[in-house]
Amino acid sequence: MEAHRLNKFLASRGVASRRRCDEIIRAGRVRVNGATVLLPGTRVVPGRDVVELDGCPVAEHPPSVRYVMLNKPAGVLVSARDFRNRPTFRELIPASLGRIFSVGRLDKDTEGLLLLTNDGLVAFRLTHPSYQVEKRYRVLVGELPEKKALVSMRKGVDIGDGVRSSPAGVSYLGPREGGHLLALSIREGRKRQVRKMCAVVGLTVRSLVRTGLGPLELGELPKGSWRELTGAEREALRALVDREPVRLERGKL
Ligand code: URA
Repeated sequence: MEAHRLNKFLASRGVASRRRCDEIIRAGRVRVNGATVLLPGTRVVPGRDVVELDGCPVAEHPPSVRYVMLNKPAGVLVSARDFRNRPTFRELIPASLGRIFSVGRLDKDTEGLLLLTNDGLVAFRLTHPSYQVEKRYRVLVGELPEKKALVSMRKGVDIGDGVRSSPAGVSYLGPREGGHLLALSIREGRKRQVRKMCAVVGLTVRSLVRTGLGPLELGELPKGSWRELTGAEREALRALVDREPVRLERGKL
């Protein structure tokens, strides 16, 4: 039976990062076979040694891959911790889901579909520009958009720093909630991209909701709630990330 360093064992069971596990061990929160252990390098054999954290047994096996969809409300940050103590997405999911990371980001004020996973390959491919994964948004803007504004956004606009957005899908859905609703889809994910695209054509974003990511749809998931992906959704994701990447022209990455 193979022995592992205690810090590595805890990290691989989803307790925390390796460095954070070192701190947890040094704080005396971990017992091995009933005895408190303070050295992160202590060797343990999974299945033979009983490891406890704060008195609870730590799983013998590494967690299986997890895919969770969260409907992020506005005002919640997509970062692990915030030094100003503002709410983060982690507060909306139970710790029992283990270490899962967001696939890409949403701005603090953007709502909607946030995918969380511990599958690094899926996360990488869904966010890498060469995989051209579609992101779909509903954008409530303050002004009635002129046709030429929609055409410009479809073709691509200068969003600053010499960057031009790639062609986008843009359609006007009609007046809503005192503003005007657009459906917008893009295959890149630059920082604040939708907000910048709207600003360039003179539209003020009142609210922004991500409704879809590749094969995933937010659907009726209530704001602030989460759910595991279904088997069909997991398969659709796998199929998407198993594809060959698209060759991009120089300067597009
Ligand atoms: N575009 C934005 O401007 N913000 C987001 O959060 C996502 C896309």
